[in-house]
Amino acid sequence: QAAQEAQSRGWNLYLVGGAIRDLLLADASQKLLLKDIDLVVDGFHRSADTGAGVTLAQSLQKLYPNVRLDVHGAFQTAALLWHNDPVLDSLWVDIATARTEFYPYPAANPEVEASSIRQDLYRRDFTINALAVRLTTSRSGELPLLDFFGGLLDLRSRQIRVLHANSFIEDPTRIYRAVRFAVRLGFEIEPQTEAYIRYAMESGVYERSLSQNDKAPALQTRLKAELKHILQAPYWNRALQLLASLGALRCIHPTLDLNETLWWQVRLVDRWLRRFDPTRRLEHWQMRLEVLLAYLAPEERAAVAENLQLPLDSIERLQQLAPAQAQVLKSLPNTKRPSEVVWLLRQYKLPTLVLMAIQAPRSIRRMLWKYLTTWADIQAPLNGNDLKKLGYKPGPQYREMLDKLLAATLDGMIQDEAEAKAFLAK
Ligand code: CTP
Repeated sequence: QAAQEAQSRGWNLYLVGGAIRDLLLADASQKLLLKDIDLVVDGFHRSADTGAGVTLAQSLQKLYPNVRLDVHGAFQTAALLWHNDPVLDSLWVDIATARTEFYPYPAANPEVEASSIRQDLYRRDFTINALAVRLTTSRSGELPLLDFFGGLLDLRSRQIRVLHANSFIEDPTRIYRAVRFAVRLGFEIEPQTEAYIRYAMESGVYERSLSQNDKAPALQTRLKAELKHILQAPYWNRALQLLASLGALRCIHPTLDLNETLWWQVRLVDRWLRRFDPTRRLEHWQMRLEVLLAYLAPEERAAVAENLQLPLDSIERLQQLAPAQAQVLKSLPNTKRPSEVVWLLRQYKLPTLVLMAIQAPRSIRRMLWKYLTTWADIQAPLNGNDLKKLGYKPGPQYREMLDKLLAATLDGMIQDEAEAKAFLAK
């Protein structure tokens, strides 16, 4: 339908980007379910405000009224979303107007101007992502697959290769994309591309981009999205190691280095989360990131989390981590009874306890483990309702009574309801 609509206006329509890469890589027996399709439309359009892509998306929406349409005017792009469609299930279709991106200064967001498909493809990150298939019929008998930059060869020889030397200077988050595609697809980062990455990192491009322009939030948003992509993938550990070996963790903080201790900590956090959050109520990718941030100097942690636009609870957790650690390191070794451990630790939520545990000495880590596996779940044999039924007058004293009961239970002085009642009666 999209091709017909474009054709009827005399425009060209192309399927571009990741969908082609994934289609070409998929084996014939594999059923490939595309969730995200990028289209580019190239054609003369009267209005400079919206562009052909938006007009095409609007006409498609008339044909599929249940589809959601989002328009991003500044970039002349539109997105159509099919949600729970009986045939397509859920599918995003991004429609862009053929454009070049003109970067006024490094790492700024692109300014857009209409241009041809070749230029549109040239602004992309890697050769394997710069392939296009023409969906509208061509007048000149041109091959439907457009491969201006050797993408097919790189797909066959499994190489991640940039299109030009400035790619990582223009957008340093592409370093994270290079790593993500390399690890996910089992490709190699081609040596010249790797040299560009190292050059970009060593020249301090990321720090410079952050300090020099007002587009820092947009850059941080992209970095966070890439970090999320990587840290939630099954291959996160290999990707993290590759990022570190390329010096790219500097984008998070100039002092961040995946040394043996930190490498051990990020793997350890997984074991704790598997044990204590099996139903994944926490965002495990974010916990991995918090482990990296917790390794920074205490006064840096929250600021970096804030720059990365992490949620408020995460920023606060990193802010509070140092005082919490100091208190626990000081008080936990002096506890004598389980109830004292519980009284000390129950003020902290699971993510804080886990962050504390992975940085703590072994003896403290063992006590935290014991707390979470055993003591944290113990309850007193009676609750507030029971107290009421037993005739105790409701009020603030309930809290005190229940705490006393819990302490007695934790410390093994009472075990069942009868003992609890006797304990209260004393
Ligand atoms: N792109 C780019 N530089 C970026 C982000 C994206 O050049 N920093 C281009 C790439 O050509 C990419 C396309 O935009 O193919 C679409 O981006 P995205 O949907 O993020 O990537 P996909 O290649 O579709 O990868 P994925 O399968 O991970 O979604």
